[in-house]
Amino acid sequence: MTDAPGAARAAARAILRANDRGGYTVPSARLYPFQWNWDSALVAMGWATCSESRGWQEVETLLAGQWDDGMVPHILFHAPSGDYFPGPAVWGLARLRVPSSGIPQPPVLATAVRRMLERARAPEQAKARAAALYPKLLGNHRWWARARDPERRGLVTTLHPWETGMDNSPAWDIALARVPRETGTPIVRRDLAHVESAMRPALAEYERYIHLVDLFRSLAWEPGRMLRQSPFRVADVGTNAILLRAERDLLALARRFGTAAEGAEIDARSARLAAALEGLFSATEGIYLGRDQVADRPITVATSAGLLPIFAGERAHAGALAERIESWRSAAVPWPVPSSAPGGPGFDPRRYWRGPVWPFVNWMLAQGFAAAGNAALASLLGNATARMIETGGFYEYFDPRDASGLGGENFSWTAAIWLVLAESRP
Ligand code: GLC
Repeated sequence: MTDAPGAARAAARAILRANDRGGYTVPSARLYPFQWNWDSALVAMGWATCSESRGWQEVETLLAGQWDDGMVPHILFHAPSGDYFPGPAVWGLARLRVPSSGIPQPPVLATAVRRMLERARAPEQAKARAAALYPKLLGNHRWWARARDPERRGLVTTLHPWETGMDNSPAWDIALARVPRETGTPIVRRDLAHVESAMRPALAEYERYIHLVDLFRSLAWEPGRMLRQSPFRVADVGTNAILLRAERDLLALARRFGTAAEGAEIDARSARLAAALEGLFSATEGIYLGRDQVADRPITVATSAGLLPIFAGERAHAGALAERIESWRSAAVPWPVPSSAPGGPGFDPRRYWRGPVWPFVNWMLAQGFAAAGNAALASLLGNATARMIETGGFYEYFDPRDASGLGGENFSWTAAIWLVLAESRP
């Protein structure tokens, strides 16, 4: 790419280097001092723009923490830090080979691996490293089906807001309110030492998050018991859309590195998931809506997760989704794409997943709309995201009213997404 400011590229690379802890990248130095699952998948793609080998290593280090049953935890605690709560002791998993949390995050890994393989400038290295990763990715996707969709209905179930990666999305408000606030674990908000409280989840949400961790720990992290006993059970559009995209990318990997039987298995899972995801589209809202599986009801709160099926490659409602994005833009809220519908329930333009713009979500949407033939929207999203970062800084998220940077600064996946966007802009 020729037109991106060289200074931004240098700054993005410097952030990745500064957040590199030797084989893995922390999302931000103080706020998130460990390795996070979906952050690392996106960060690997960012590394690959300047060091392919370091990109592969990011994924390899994450998969070194994969559980024997195939689950890839949402946090790996490679080295101790007092800066974050809840640490390994709260999860009760400090004794693992790689201490970790006990829940997953949306599976972006297969997508990252396919992208790095297909864009490789060192194809022999890429082939060898992708081939070695493929069985682990397959094991992970089998875990999702076995642990979170044992009845083979198509959609996987999410048991904790942190699993969705969109922690305090207003889509979870009603389902989360059913979770008791009682917890035997003292809540120590380390995050508030680093970021203003108006930009972070509230205390009541934290108590419920930890109640769920306490419960799952008491169930020894056994998937069947967790699925039966969790008071929070939702079919999240975001997780399911990202999984569908990942299954399709895994299929491409299976064709190179796997067997025909594995290809057929992945194909069958993808078809089931695509059909079930289609069932989440709301014609009246013009967006996909998640499902509260405890109340057995749609979650009628529109968020940016409801647009992500376009990233999965589902094009049937591309027009409606583009209109939805347009309808969320106004003079007061000009920056795309807010994480929840402006004026909708729970919208808060500065608080984390309740309104701010997240650069990597925009990148996913841009990818999806480009593939669906809406080049204009794809470049609008890509350009707006790059501009936001170049003028506001490498922040965690941005205010959709004025693009001011919010949350943590010098953020790894923001840097990575800038580098990835720069690769594909003219
Ligand atoms: C927050 C985000 C989550 C992310 C993590 C590290 O918990 O909600 O999506 O993975 O921070 O950046």
